[in-house]
Amino acid sequence: MSTPPSASRPATTTPDGSDPRCIPHKLTAPLPVGAECAYPAYTADEQAVWRALCVRMEELLPGRAADEFLTGLQALQLDRDRVPVLADVSRRLQRATGWQIARTPGLLDAHDFFGYLAQRIFPCTDYIRGRHELDYTPAPDCFHDIFGHTPMIMHPRFADFYQKIGQAARACQDPAVEEGLTRIYWFTVEFGLVRNPGGLRIFGNGIISSSGETLHSLSDQVEKRPFVPEKTAAQPYDIWHYQDVLWVVDSFDQLEAEFVRWARSHRLL
Ligand SMILES: [Fe+2]
Repeated sequence: MSTPPSASRPATTTPDGSDPRCIPHKLTAPLPVGAECAYPAYTADEQAVWRALCVRMEELLPGRAADEFLTGLQALQLDRDRVPVLADVSRRLQRATGWQIARTPGLLDAHDFFGYLAQRIFPCTDYIRGRHELDYTPAPDCFHDIFGHTPMIMHPRFADFYQKIGQAARACQDPAVEEGLTRIYWFTVEFGLVRNPGGLRIFGNGIISSSGETLHSLSDQVEKRPFVPEKTAAQPYDIWHYQDVLWVVDSFDQLEAEFVRWARSHRLL
């Protein structure tokens, strides 16, 4: 289903019927970073979509999202009544962990994306999904990127781990190792669970961005295994269905240390 583009949102179909938000951009010029990111002319309906998504998500998060995610979200003080200003979010991240935000027009080519992560810069979209996509959008939008990803980048250990993922990916030449790295990324950044004092909690944004996946991930239908990079790297994933297996870290110190050990064993760091 397509919706007309607005000042901020790209068209959602091309003449051949595909969704251009799902086609990775290969950059020919650097992205605007931090204060260089202009605030788009959002429509009133787009601002209302942001508000609706915040309300729905904040009902789901308590008791399910990781303490570290909730602490980061609180510290970011994201606007709830309008789409946040990327330059402001970037400034708060920079103060906390030295990360900045770059405005990306959509999905990035993997080489470009990991290159930014390696420099402690998070490529972030600024368009928001249509009202008919509240439950699901096939490509990242600014709710996924800002609300879902930036809170964890406020955590010092996760922030260092995320940079090392970028550095390792840039150094990787072996397609088999690269596939393992992609799986580690998928099962941590997007689908990771962490053992908090209060119990098992979610820090992966692919889960947090989906109310269905949030409820499913903590249920008995999912097998939870302790995070061991060699095993996680060997686990295929299916992007079209809820996950049957998820990996649990004990802490973000452990996540970073284990990832560094794995990456060094492949001479990526
Ligand atoms: Fe994501």
